[in-house]
This record gives sequence, C-alpha cells and structure tokens, in this order.
Amino acid sequence: MIRPLTPEDLEAYKALWIHGLTTEPEAFLLTAAEAAGALDSSLIAKLASGAVIGAFEGTALVGFVAMHQGGPERLHHMADIGPLYIHPSARRRGLGRDLMCAVIDAAKTRGFLQLELCVDATNTGARALYEAQGFAQFGLRPRSVIVNGVPRDDVLMLKPLD
Ligand SMILES: CC(C)(COP(=O)(O)OP(=O)(O)OC[C@H]1O[C@@H](n2cnc3c(N)ncnc32)[C@H](O)[C@@H]1OP(=O)(O)O)[C@@H](O)C(=O)NCCC(=O)NCCS
Repeated sequence: MIRPLTPEDLEAYKALWIHGLTTEPEAFLLTAAEAAGALDSSLIAKLASGAVIGAFEGTALVGFVAMHQGGPERLHHMADIGPLYIHPSARRRGLGRDLMCAVIDAAKTRGFLQLELCVDATNTGARALYEAQGFAQFGLRPRSVIVNGVPRDDVLMLKPLD
C-alpha cells in the first residue's frame, strides 16, 4: 500500500530513515547523527504536511519518498524530491516506482511546475528509475558531497510537470 505518512507514523519513519542513513550513507544528504538530532516537532510538521509518502507491506513501513518545496517565493513553482528509500528486503518489486508515481501525482495536485533531484552519479539503479519516470539530466555537480572523507559527484535531474 502507498499512502502519505502522518504524525502517527513518526517512529516507523525515523527508524527506517536511520536504517538507510546508517547502511547506505552515500544515498542520502544528511548523516545519521544529523537525522537522529532532528527535532520530532519538525519531523511531525513535515509528516502533517503530507510531503512524505510511505510504502507499506502489511502494516510495516518499508519505504518512503519526500518532497520539499523551495522556500523563497521565486522557487515556489518547484519542489525537490528526496530522500527516496526502500528497505533492501522490499526492493525490485516496483515499490520505488510506485512511490515516484505517487509523489509526481502529489506534486501535480499541488500545482508545482517542475520537480528536481540529485542522485549519486554511480547510483545506476536509481538513475534508471528516475529516467523511466521522465526525469532528464541537466547537470553534473562535481564533488557535490563528501561522504566519510570521499568526494562524490551528483547528477542533477529535472522533470517538467506542465
Ligand atoms: C533506488 C531504490 C529506491 C529502488 O527501489 P525499488 O523498489 O527496488 O525499485 P523498483 O522495484 O520500483 O524498480 C523500478 C525500476 O528502477 C530500476 N532499478 C531499480 N533498482 C535497480 C538496480 N538495483 N539496478 C538496476 N536498475 C534498478 C529498474 O529499471 C526497475 O525496473 P525493473 O525492475 O522493471 O527493471 C532502492 O534501490 C533504494 O532504496 N536504494 C537505496 C537508496 C537510494 O539509492 N535512493 C535513491 C537516492 S537518490
């Protein structure tokens, strides 16, 4: 089942997020310590806004995708997508694709004109998923992040919604 997360999902969301950050740090922007230090109040506000969509197997949360609207008024036409994470036990069953479809629909409903995302240049699986959803590369940011002392490049992708 795919549905927007709510504040009632806070503990499951945090646990899955920290799991991903700990086991696959190169797929995320934040460190596990930064995520662990995030205030519950700000996470609850994020969940209450409907900007995080979850994938469930039975009652277990096994994946999520988040959407962030640009803060300044001149960025209000766009949103950034990420993180997108599926627990390893639930991969290659179409849940990542389902989450991307759901977040694209939600972005259209909110009136965004385009979606953008960053993906590690070596993450061929995620890049294939995004390309299949209509995202196209518009740039490459060298040394975009430094993860555990190792510089990594990010591919920048965009999907127009209009
Ligand atoms: C990337 C990720 C979200 C994919 O989730 P998933 O549920 O396994 O993906 P799906 O089953 O919906 O796959 C959809 C398509 O994406 C592509 N894809 C997904 N994983 C892939 C992989 N490991 N290798 C190659 N292609 C892959 C395929 O084209 C696939 O279609 P197919 O199964 O018909 O071949 C998941 O592997 C993950 O959470 N990885 C770690 C976190 C991460 O990298 N997030 C993205 C950061 S930008």
